[in-house]
Amino acid sequence: MPVSHQSNKATLSHPSGASAEVYLFGATLTSWKVSNKERIFLSAEAVLDESKAIRGGIPLVFPVFGKGKAPHITASLPQHGFARISRWKFVNSSDDDQTVTAQFGLDHSMISDEHRSLWPFDFSLIYTIKLTADTIETHLKVHNVGDKPFDFNTLLHTYFLIPDESKVRVIGLNGVDYADKVLQQSSRQDGEAVIRGEVDRVYANVKSTDIDIHYGADEQQNGRGIKLSKNGLNDIVVWNPWIEKSAGMADFGDEEYHRMICVEAGQVAEFIALASGDSWEGSQVLSLL
Ligand code: BG6
Repeated sequence: MPVSHQSNKATLSHPSGASAEVYLFGATLTSWKVSNKERIFLSAEAVLDESKAIRGGIPLVFPVFGKGKAPHITASLPQHGFARISRWKFVNSSDDDQTVTAQFGLDHSMISDEHRSLWPFDFSLIYTIKLTADTIETHLKVHNVGDKPFDFNTLLHTYFLIPDESKVRVIGLNGVDYADKVLQQSSRQDGEAVIRGEVDRVYANVKSTDIDIHYGADEQQNGRGIKLSKNGLNDIVVWNPWIEKSAGMADFGDEEYHRMICVEAGQVAEFIALASGDSWEGSQVLSLL
């Protein structure tokens, strides 16, 4: 079966051997295997019982990035919004010679009463995952099905599994202005982004559609890295919690920061305003370098 189901997750299997796993909780993709290797980081401490956001994979940030700021209506929502902590439904699946597709959905009737009272808008999200022999596409469609306009942020908060954080290089951000959330200042990227300590940066209006995550380590064993190709998503967040933040996270091992980098494509520098009846789409395709 190209798409098989358990009560809490769906597994996409491509005839080539590539596969992906998606939890209904948050529609969080937790695994993408290609050429017999896992490419996505999932913490060994991740909580998978739906009591908190899954630490790793591709949590979906919606409708706010980080903590919203008063007086904006998103100020009282949980960090990164409710989509990653709501149970989505499986919508459908299909497959042809090339591609295995699975769709997941979330709308206002499915979120908790608390979240609905904090964010009283009628919305519909459709998240489509397309797996081929050597790529995976994750595509989000946001539809305003109500009679009031709303603002939202969204982000495909992708945790990449990497061999060594000290060797990874993120290419495609040269010359882009970013908000440095660690140093609390604005800067401009000069060359490649690397990890030499805690990194938490929001790169706004990234013109390059392709962002390359070069592993920089043992190419023979690990491959060169991953290409992230974004479509309709202007911003890129780069995050590695490093030593102290890792120690402070209950659902993340103290040493796991060596093996992950988040490179997150989304719309977070500014809110997107969606009028009644309108829809918006954004996506990324991951492939091997
Ligand atoms: C990143 C943010 O996108 O997500 C960081 O830029 C944040 O500031 C990180 O720490 C993880 O967030 P959370 O809520 O999953 O711990």
